[in-house]
Amino acid sequence: MMNEFQIEENAFKYLKETFKNDCSGHDYYHSVRVYKNAVNIAQKEGGNLFLIKLAALLHDVDDSKLFDTSDKLQNARKFLVENGVDDSSINEICKIIKSVSFKGNGSVIPDSLEGKIVQDADRLDALGAIGIARTFAYGGHKGRPIHEPYEKPIDNMAAKEYENHISTSINHFYEKLLKLKNLMNTDTAISLAENRHVFIKKYLDEFTNEWDGNR
Ligand code: ADP
Ligand code: NI
Repeated sequence: MMNEFQIEENAFKYLKETFKNDCSGHDYYHSVRVYKNAVNIAQKEGGNLFLIKLAALLHDVDDSKLFDTSDKLQNARKFLVENGVDDSSINEICKIIKSVSFKGNGSVIPDSLEGKIVQDADRLDALGAIGIARTFAYGGHKGRPIHEPYEKPIDNMAAKEYENHISTSINHFYEKLLKLKNLMNTDTAISLAENRHVFIKKYLDEFTNEWDGNR
């Protein structure tokens, strides 16, 4: 196996190529932030750092919204094999990636500490100032309206349904983002999520006031 530092370097290069031109909120920098969040959380929570780093870096390279390789994680596997990662680590990393994705609307809790950390790291990037930017980018990418005052958010929609349902970006905050704080797995992420959650709530409040002409 190549040394771990070299594999990481290759992963950054691979991501830059894979996500170039992405305007759906899944650009290269999203993966880099998830990596940084994950390393941050792991410093407090522990876990196998090599598995955490690689799973964080590769967590979206087979995302079904962007690629049609998702079932078997072909892109992630190919990268790991080409970089000489051993089979057992490849399986661990792929297991983490599978358990991390949001399908199931928060119902999938990874069983390993590494999976919990990467899932938290990804969710943190859907919150706060960055989360707001990504939500509107993704909404625009999918042709969704910013806001439709007569359309109410739908509570507790099943994941499958949610993926296919055309919502507005503002509704996405109520349907998903405001629920993330309570879905964090690790204490470290719970505390990191707090500020980002409060920021989003404040933003929605301001948005509503401006929309209604109160400001
Ligand atoms: P990731 O793929 O990074 O795990 P998601 O694919 O769930 O995360 O979401 C990517 C970004 O797009 C997030 O910021 C998320 O809030 C936003 N997003 C996902 N679904 C919608 C939607 N229906 N409307 C608006 N934004 C969305
Ligand atoms: Ni992601």
